[in-house]
Amino acid sequence: MSSRLSIEFSSPSSVSYPLMVLVASKDGAPRLSAAGVALDKDLGGALSRAIKESDFKGEAGEDVVVRASEGTVILFGIGEDAAGVEIENLGGQALSSISRAKLKEITLGTDAQNNDWLASFAYGAYLAGYHFSRYFTKGKSAKPTQVKMTLAVADKTGAEEAYQHHAGIAAGVFLARDLVSEPSNILYPAEYAERCKKLTESGIDVEILNEAKMQKLGMNLLLAVGQGSDRESRMVVMRWQGGKKSESPIVLVGKGVCFDTGGISIKPAGGMEDMKWDMGGSAAVVGTMQALAKADIKRNVIGLVGLVENMPDGKAIKPGDVVKSMSGQTVEIINTDAEGRLVLADVLTYAQQHCTPSLIIDLATLTGAILVSLGMVQSGLFSNNDTLAEAIQSAGTASGEATWRMPLGAEYNKLLASKIADMKNIGGRYGGSVTAACFLERFIENSLPWAHLDIAGMAWAQKATPTVPLGGTGYGVRMLTRFIADFDTARL
Ligand code: BES
Ligand code: ZN
Ligand code: ZN
Repeated sequence: MSSRLSIEFSSPSSVSYPLMVLVASKDGAPRLSAAGVALDKDLGGALSRAIKESDFKGEAGEDVVVRASEGTVILFGIGEDAAGVEIENLGGQALSSISRAKLKEITLGTDAQNNDWLASFAYGAYLAGYHFSRYFTKGKSAKPTQVKMTLAVADKTGAEEAYQHHAGIAAGVFLARDLVSEPSNILYPAEYAERCKKLTESGIDVEILNEAKMQKLGMNLLLAVGQGSDRESRMVVMRWQGGKKSESPIVLVGKGVCFDTGGISIKPAGGMEDMKWDMGGSAAVVGTMQALAKADIKRNVIGLVGLVENMPDGKAIKPGDVVKSMSGQTVEIINTDAEGRLVLADVLTYAQQHCTPSLIIDLATLTGAILVSLGMVQSGLFSNNDTLAEAIQSAGTASGEATWRMPLGAEYNKLLASKIADMKNIGGRYGGSVTAACFLERFIENSLPWAHLDIAGMAWAQKATPTVPLGGTGYGVRMLTRFIADFDTARL
């Protein structure tokens, strides 16, 4: 869907009420900007009185609403020297402040901030305004109150330009949130592939592989997961050529399990509805492709998503079944609920055989165990390459999508030994996120730089944060877009 916030830029001469005044804090005291001081004078000291009465310090996210006879003014605290993602969070909090004051439009006084600062602030507010109201037919939920924010800026063109880049990334985040929010009766593999096809409009080349095509390629693991479903499986290949022809692409791979019942190893009923967002990894990939195109990032990137539905059925895979992967390795499927790694394994092989990748990053809501380890605060990062891991981690921190490095290694890897095939699809009772990552690593050839993000704790927000409302988060888009824009693959 979209944001309930629209952003506009105007020149400072058109400042009008209601007005938001950004107030920095210095050594625990509020510091009005030059324009703020002038306004206070015009209002006969109403602002300084309100500051005194409310003990407003200008701390990040603090606000005071001043209802002067001339009009409403919100004093909004921006703290001391906010930088990077802190500025985005301030923007998100500002939208809450505007909504609490029940205002539908606001002009933002911006005399003390530069264009990049303002663009980040507006971006944060815009992200916070996301809503998915498609399936409400009545009331406020169906039509959330729209807010218009006008930034009165000295350099209108410059500020607009700076914001455009962010707006492109926001489009990708919103696409990912939409996909995650859709229920599985609507978003099944074929429909999902059609939605990916729409990226052609943004200049991305999209190819859809159906089951017959995947059978020819030998993608038996992916097909095995989907074989219990009436809905056909798909794989989608999305190519963005932002860089030179000669540059080998970064390949992104996403788990797209449109619904995960667990299959024959069926999950308990309680909370199973959450498994509609078991395609969060693929949504991050699709959203990132959209963001790369909209923000015109000068890199070559290929996005691959494996789209399946994991269902129990007479035709479904069963515990003990042995399946030959696209790589040629055989897998004994002990637990049909450990299906994401089966899908990813074949897509990873496809990536290496058909895409000449410089590096691969996969994203997946892969294990419940990562929730036990890291909660809903950071994703788990597994990688065979320190340079790559460090770069992903810093892109995550810088974009507000943190990730924490987790181990791989022979001691874990050997837990996947099978008595009948090259490997089992699960390890022991403990360390489930690590053995899942080790399983994936077995499908990476010649130590190609690879990283795996287990985002099971991050794809869906049970609690809102400043720039992420409840529900589908679009986690990964911001981090990946930044990583791709900044990382020099020659460093590997
Ligand atoms: N989709 C789940 C993982 C998951 C759990 C995602 C909770 C989001 C929230 C995955 O396919 C799964 O079921 N994993 C099993 C693996 C086990 C059978 C080894 C798990 O985590 O329990
Ligand atoms: Zn599962
Ligand atoms: Zn799953």
